[in-house]
Amino acid sequence: MSGTVHLQREGAVGVLVIDNPPVNAGSSDIRKALLTCIAEVEADAGLTAGVLIGAGKTFIAGSDLREFDLPLAPPQLPAVIAAIEGSAKPWVAALQGAALGGGYELALGCDARIAAPGTVVGLPECGLGIIPGAGGTQKLPRLVGKAAAIALITSGRRVGAEDALKLGMVDALASGDLRAEAAALALSLVGRKAGVIERDPPAEDEATIEAAARKAAASGRSRPHILSAIRHIRAVGSVPAGEGLAAEREDFQDLRISAEAKALRHIFFAEREAARGAAPAGVTAGPFASFGILGAGTMGAGIALACLQRGFATTVVDTDPAAIERARTRIEDEISKSTAAGRLTAAEADAARANLTLGSDMALLAGSDVIVEAVIEDLAVKQQVFAAIDKVARPDALLATNTSYLDVDAIASAVADPGRFIGLHFFSPANIMKLLEVVGGARSTPEAIATGLAVARALGKQPVQAGNAFGFIGNRIYAAYRAACEFMLEDGALPQEVDSALTGFGFAMGPFAVADLSGLDIAWRMRQQQAASRDPAARYVHIPDRLCEAGRLGRKTGAGYYSYDAAGKPQPDPAVEAIILAASAEKGTPRRSLAAEEIQRRALAAIVNEAALVVQQGVALRPGDVDVVMVNGYGFPRWTGGPLHWAGTQDQAHLAADCAAFVAAAGAGRELADLAAILTS
Ligand code: NAI
Repeated sequence: MSGTVHLQREGAVGVLVIDNPPVNAGSSDIRKALLTCIAEVEADAGLTAGVLIGAGKTFIAGSDLREFDLPLAPPQLPAVIAAIEGSAKPWVAALQGAALGGGYELALGCDARIAAPGTVVGLPECGLGIIPGAGGTQKLPRLVGKAAAIALITSGRRVGAEDALKLGMVDALASGDLRAEAAALALSLVGRKAGVIERDPPAEDEATIEAAARKAAASGRSRPHILSAIRHIRAVGSVPAGEGLAAEREDFQDLRISAEAKALRHIFFAEREAARGAAPAGVTAGPFASFGILGAGTMGAGIALACLQRGFATTVVDTDPAAIERARTRIEDEISKSTAAGRLTAAEADAARANLTLGSDMALLAGSDVIVEAVIEDLAVKQQVFAAIDKVARPDALLATNTSYLDVDAIASAVADPGRFIGLHFFSPANIMKLLEVVGGARSTPEAIATGLAVARALGKQPVQAGNAFGFIGNRIYAAYRAACEFMLEDGALPQEVDSALTGFGFAMGPFAVADLSGLDIAWRMRQQQAASRDPAARYVHIPDRLCEAGRLGRKTGAGYYSYDAAGKPQPDPAVEAIILAASAEKGTPRRSLAAEEIQRRALAAIVNEAALVVQQGVALRPGDVDVVMVNGYGFPRWTGGPLHWAGTQDQAHLAADCAAFVAAAGAGRELADLAAILTS
């Protein structure tokens, strides 16, 4: 039994209380009970109007997604909404907490909507590869206009009560007792029933609608569900209402069982699971209220912003006064920008400014609950700063390094109690990127890891627990991917061909455009450090070294794998082609052209093989965690569900052969994963 509905009488108003803890998710039991109760109100001559309200703190926060993999059990939501719309009595939706997805569509089936302050409403279905399928695309445009509906539905934006009132998504805000005010509103509508589906959309300029459609298609990467939503919204008013609703429902049903929607549901559940980490029983996170950050560079300033935006007291220490001043300016600029964009209120911005302390004295970190180190990537420097931190930090503070590649245990050895030491690997820009790898060292206590996960959640990040291995989860997989792409340059492809094949697969950017953006020099330095220990049998591509030697360090020097014009637009460069051709010739590798399909297969095989190894070796807890990392941190297309989910949808024999080909092409130093075992685990 998943939920029930209680019919309560408030004078002449039948109040239906939807009760399915914890969030009153829509389920077949709820739908059945709603139909029964609606019929009861309809048949009761003593009742003249109805109210829908949620038990507890929320309306219906969404549908039970687990139902979406199976044929939907009757009655379906449109039947419930049709009963409300067909009722002779007016119905009011009393909204609190969240009214999202099917919950908000149910509200759209009512004659009016009233919301308690703090309520969020919206139609987030597009984030799951589907469209609203119970009238959302047909009714929202009648309230807010087509252009606004396109933006709201394709982005899945959750709208706060005040904005929802301004837009017309709700008709009133409750000032006191939501239930009583909803009942009064319902009574005021007796004899004036006015379903949303019967209204005409507001008059709008066709050019405005067209512009909204174009913008939504572009930001939704023209995925099938985005185009479908736009099509249905645009059709409102030009086809009979019943036809519009039926067409929407048909597309919803098709999309619901599509591979893409399944992949997006996988990522949705994987993100929730990853956020819990290993979660051993009986382990609880320690409390924290303040952050100390050592290093005020690119990452330190970004991490400080992430903490300040969430209202935490934040102290940043750097030995370089110029770095402190740069960080101060950057943080102030970002706070002002966030305030102008409405992401922070004026009061939150002032609190953030008051919460920030910047300085050069390590003793400033003495009061911090969590200390994150973000100084340069050098083991000796990191060990030295942690020895100093250890002297000033509170004995119960959590200590964390933001290292990209270094051994967390080796850094932890500099402190007296490595049990309280973990890695917190943020991504750049740290105030924006959602991913945060929480790295457990050999001696990190389960409590320290649990606190790291809690810190990530409190900062609004997507945590993924990782083991202490070179590159953790993401950078390690990315390194294999980059290697495969470099092999292809030597074998006959050019950077623009590789990049365009991979953006064609759905990556946000190609690997060589990414390399130019982050700068080629960091990896160059790392290769130089590793040169002595490199296996001579391992295939080594010299092209990136040659680019660096030519001063082509990426965008920051105006040239890398591409050259950049004044507007920053990348251009294929004959000088790069000459370097690549010379590298192939030097190795005696005959060049042949590589089709986009082959480029995709080879790059994906490298990712999948390394992703499976990461799970096999226990660096990631579960295949879904790897998918979450690659989707949230590396531009892997979300609609594929991430590399290991994608792998499970492919022809296994071909994929295994591609993985083996990659390992063979690497010469030495790469291991073949037991992909079949990982995919069935
Ligand atoms: P950065 O060079 O921008 O900043 C490093 C800062 O540390 C500088 O301001 C420097 O003055 C300061 N510093 C150096 N020695 C210090 C000391 N003894 N005491 C106090 N401050 C000191 O470097 P970035 O890019 O911010 O990287 C920092 C760390 O974050 C590195 O370990 C890096 O591998 C890691 N990381 C970098 C990412 C990126 O995309 N830049 C992404 C994720 C991690």
